[in-house]
Amino acid sequence: MPKPMHLTAFMRPVSLHTGAWRYPGAFADANFNFGHLKSFIQKLEAAKFDAFFMADHLAVLNMPVEALKRSHTVTSFEPFTLLSALAAVTERIGLAATASTTFEEPYHVARRFASLDHISNGRAAWNIVTTSNPDTARNFGLDEHVEHGERYKRAREFFDVVTGLWDSFADDAFIRDQQAGIFFDPGRMHVLDHKGDELSVRGPLNIARPVQGWPVIVQAGQSEPGRQLAAETAELVFCSPRDLAAAKTLYADIKGRMSAFNRQRDHLKILPAAFIVLGDTVEDARAKRATLDSLVHYDSGIASLSIALGHDASGFDPDGPLPPIPETNASKTGRAQVLRLAEEEGLTVRQLAQRYGGYSGLAFVGTPDSVADEMEAWVSQGGADGFTVVFPYLPQGLDDITRDLVPVLQRRGLFRREYEGSTLREHLGLPRPENQFFPA
Ligand SMILES: Cc1cc2nc3c(=O)[nH]c(=O)nc-3n(C[C@H](O)[C@H](O)[C@H](O)COP(=O)(O)O)c2cc1C
Repeated sequence: MPKPMHLTAFMRPVSLHTGAWRYPGAFADANFNFGHLKSFIQKLEAAKFDAFFMADHLAVLNMPVEALKRSHTVTSFEPFTLLSALAAVTERIGLAATASTTFEEPYHVARRFASLDHISNGRAAWNIVTTSNPDTARNFGLDEHVEHGERYKRAREFFDVVTGLWDSFADDAFIRDQQAGIFFDPGRMHVLDHKGDELSVRGPLNIARPVQGWPVIVQAGQSEPGRQLAAETAELVFCSPRDLAAAKTLYADIKGRMSAFNRQRDHLKILPAAFIVLGDTVEDARAKRATLDSLVHYDSGIASLSIALGHDASGFDPDGPLPPIPETNASKTGRAQVLRLAEEEGLTVRQLAQRYGGYSGLAFVGTPDSVADEMEAWVSQGGADGFTVVFPYLPQGLDDITRDLVPVLQRRGLFRREYEGSTLREHLGLPRPENQFFPA
């Protein structure tokens, strides 16, 4: 029996490729046009995707303004405002949003996700991030970013406070006895009274327990403390391994850590980000990608390539091959990856720059059948439980995937034809957590 996979759609920005908005026929304003976003989520729901995911960084992306002025990623909706509106025009698809444990307060985060979970009848998920973008600190009254270890220490305590607040009321606390005039049973309310190293929160939350008990917990950091936090708390992991070998190592590592927390491996699903470009033939798909990459301005691309190489590439002949690059202390892995890519695909400096300035992560480029083969291999060989799909351009790239790839996965028994449940937990096969203060 093939193992069915899970699919979430990476939707903020609607494409991570900086040239996406310039692709022929693409909606240039797709990130910031409610009508378009509504049509995207309805197509994703018709294709039975598990969830629609709004990332968030609390700042414009940290790139020089010369590159930023060319990037459609500069403006996007605030995730909760958008997801609340999208909840009203969908029925089953999950609604995942990022909220930062470094720059937000747990009481705010707990009530926003609890509200979204009630509004959507149990479809919310919280992507816990510690926020790596240093520019964010300056938007929140700090001159310097908070240190990495400190950020993860606060994140761990933040998780306890938010989940404790969600458990403020037993599921049956709201008796609403109109005859007796009693709205809720105070014996079924818990005051958290949390006083820890980082946070002090009394509680209770002023919102009934979420439909899912707790919205689904997502984690996307891959550092040592990030993996540890995932193994202990997360039910979904977003990650970005470059190839199947790296994915298998990460997958085994995170799942292997779960037993120390008495958790079942199946209660955490790992979904690597995959950029998917489809064509009628493999050559056609590669040509589409080459067209897309060619829309990345050289100046933006060469800056990204220089960072990856750890070496200033601005003086190189754009239309020649990559010259020999001395090893530096800066980025051995980055340099090795560029050299490998240049050799494997025979790319010129310009093409490499455009690849790095566009999207350089894991990509499946081919026909619906060849891409389904790759996805199946990743899932069957222990590299993934599914994918976080990154679209190349919209609407065409999203239409290609929902119309041509999803049916192939369905025919092979690799993806659902219908939603079996109504909540995101049910789509993902995750248990509903028991209330820690009011056990059954
Ligand atoms: C698919 C995916 C989605 C992510 N979404 C966000 C996001 O919305 N906001 C954010 O600040 N970081 C996001 N990240 C970055 C991670 O949260 C994390 O900061 C980064 O991987 C560095 O990890 P570390 O802090 O554990 O070293 C995302 C990463 C991946 C792979």
